[in-house]
Amino acid sequence: MKRIGVFTSGGDAPGMNAAIRAVVRQAYALGLEVIGIRRGYAGMILGEMVPLGVRDVANILQRGGTVLLTARSQEFLTEEGRAKAAEKLKAAGIEGLVAIGGDGTFRGAMRLLEEHKVPVVGVPGTIDNDLYGTDYTIGFDTAVNTALEAIDRIRDTAASHERVFFIEVMGRSSGFIALDVGLAGGAEVIAVPEEPVDPKTIAEGLMESLRRGKSSSIVVVAEGAYPGGAAGLLAAIQEHVRVEARVTVLGHIQRGGSPTAKDRILASRLGAAAVEALAGRTRYLLLLPGPEARAWLEAAGKGLVRPEELSVWRRGETPFTAKGWDEALARLEEVAHAGG
Ligand code: F6P
Repeated sequence: MKRIGVFTSGGDAPGMNAAIRAVVRQAYALGLEVIGIRRGYAGMILGEMVPLGVRDVANILQRGGTVLLTARSQEFLTEEGRAKAAEKLKAAGIEGLVAIGGDGTFRGAMRLLEEHKVPVVGVPGTIDNDLYGTDYTIGFDTAVNTALEAIDRIRDTAASHERVFFIEVMGRSSGFIALDVGLAGGAEVIAVPEEPVDPKTIAEGLMESLRRGKSSSIVVVAEGAYPGGAAGLLAAIQEHVRVEARVTVLGHIQRGGSPTAKDRILASRLGAAAVEALAGRTRYLLLLPGPEARAWLEAAGKGLVRPEELSVWRRGETPFTAKGWDEALARLEEVAHAGG
């Protein structure tokens, strides 16, 4: 592989720039050229591409947002859109891609791989932290700390005025931010989309707190936890109990700002590892459970992993080490026959 592309897609996340920088620097170290694709899949379809050298990524490590810009593309959801994108990649001589983004970005990457055999390595970047198989996504730690700072401030005024505050944090379909922020900020109630939210139970809890002499409370609500978000939940609670309450929606503040050290380090490591994988230098594989693991290995994995000695993990199974592809595939077959 001589030339790779890198792009960011979907909602931006603090640390995406650190990941881009790491991709470019690692590629330079391995003698690969890097093309930056602007505006995610939308830009890929239009061929918006710029060569990226190490000087182009100087001084971006600490910056929020993404210097490559980002977008959510409807056209890429169609087969024709993806075919156009694949053609543009071919014309630019791009042989592999690093995709930085969330679940939509990864789904798109899988399609490119399946339909057009473009090797893609995904770097998990989203403040939502909702990607399967990864403990932390780039941007999550920064978003949590940003929201936490806001909640600490709100607590001051909540206590002075003896009010309940309903604070809405991001997360249309995931409650990771709400959960971490709520725990770290000492919230009395945390509402997340993954669990049923019952306004009556929350109302009773708040009344009980009042009876115990607690005059102010914080309720953290993930935006997708209840119809209408924090405002909707407060309105539903007001049907059971009248409390002196205010609503604060933190919104896109959570997506911006300089990444924390944790996000910079995660982004740097994952960006570099993605390039290593594309260059066929990685020795580790984490595979999906089930028989599709073998099909994936044969279709794409072989191009991504150095064959001499492989460490293979499948979720829920004991990792094994194999010497080369034949042994790895034979072992996977054994596990499949044993009902794996
Ligand atoms: O996926 C990240 C995220 O910030 C979600 O938490 C939120 O629901 C969504 O993006 C908001 O998207 P947009 O910026 O397009 O309104």
